Amino acid sequence: MQIVRQLDPLRDALAELRKPGLKIGLVPTMGALHAGHMRLVEVAREHCDAVVASIFVNPTQFGEGEDLDAYPRQEAADAALLEAAGVELLWAPTADQMYPSGYATSVSVSGISDGLCGAARPGHFDGVATVVAKLFNQTRPDAAFFGEKDYQQLAVIRRMARDLDFTHDIVGVPTVRDPDGLALSSRNAYLTEQQRADAVALPETMREVAGAIAAGGDVATILAEGRARIVAAGFHKIDYLELRDADTLLALDKFSQPARLFAAAHIGRTRLIDNIPVS
Ligand code: PAJ
Repeated sequence: MQIVRQLDPLRDALAELRKPGLKIGLVPTMGALHAGHMRLVEVAREHCDAVVASIFVNPTQFGEGEDLDAYPRQEAADAALLEAAGVELLWAPTADQMYPSGYATSVSVSGISDGLCGAARPGHFDGVATVVAKLFNQTRPDAAFFGEKDYQQLAVIRRMARDLDFTHDIVGVPTVRDPDGLALSSRNAYLTEQQRADAVALPETMREVAGAIAAGGDVATILAEGRARIVAAGFHKIDYLELRDADTLLALDKFSQPARLFAAAHIGRTRLIDNIPVS
């Protein structure tokens, strides 16, 4: 596996990989790779002939006081995992390759970026849309792979790709979970043993809430009970526990299809997010 950090060698390496009729898949990441990321690589290998992964801890998607400096960085271990998974090329740009001096452009996707994590993390999705648009232009893939774990991010990227005429496929991959149900996340590494044990209340409560909503209960009451249960389990702040239309992400006060339940909650210094279908 080739590791490239500058744009010129990236273009040379991609020209080598790009053969008529063969498809290139892109898996963008911020590193600290776990089985969720590796599932994206696996799906990319199923869909494509060559896989390019990127690792870039993108400063513009972190807000003031967020965990940019603490974000886990372990490139050597990540590179070994990607190589063993058959990735052809690792694009790990330096910050000045991505945002050279004088950099002044931002991509902002209105509407779909506004609620949920967009409300809790102002500017976050502008940072995501901008860096993903750049990654698409830098690598020109035939397909790009994103996790449903970050469902709103996936929706923002789909909207951005349609609006800016990126014509490659955007493939969503179902969330990979630990056996007890907690969604894998690079941020799970911040949890103490006790917090990790308590954190399972998030997916457990979400499954119960989704079941009660699908069974026809009153949505507002069920969500309020769910929030109380998550707090009782040891989360000290809930950014949201909401029922939304799975396509438009508009809030639903009554159950209708297609629906999805979204949650973000803080335990210790860690913010966890999750989402599941309601059907
Ligand atoms: P990161 O958090 O590293 O995630 C990279 C990709 O892995 C995203 O598409 C994310 O949804 C997916 N992923 C994370 N945990 C997963 C899980 N448990 N199951 C399935 N997929 C999972 O998301 C980002 O980085 C960044 O915002 C990025 C898109 C790279 C732009 O900077």
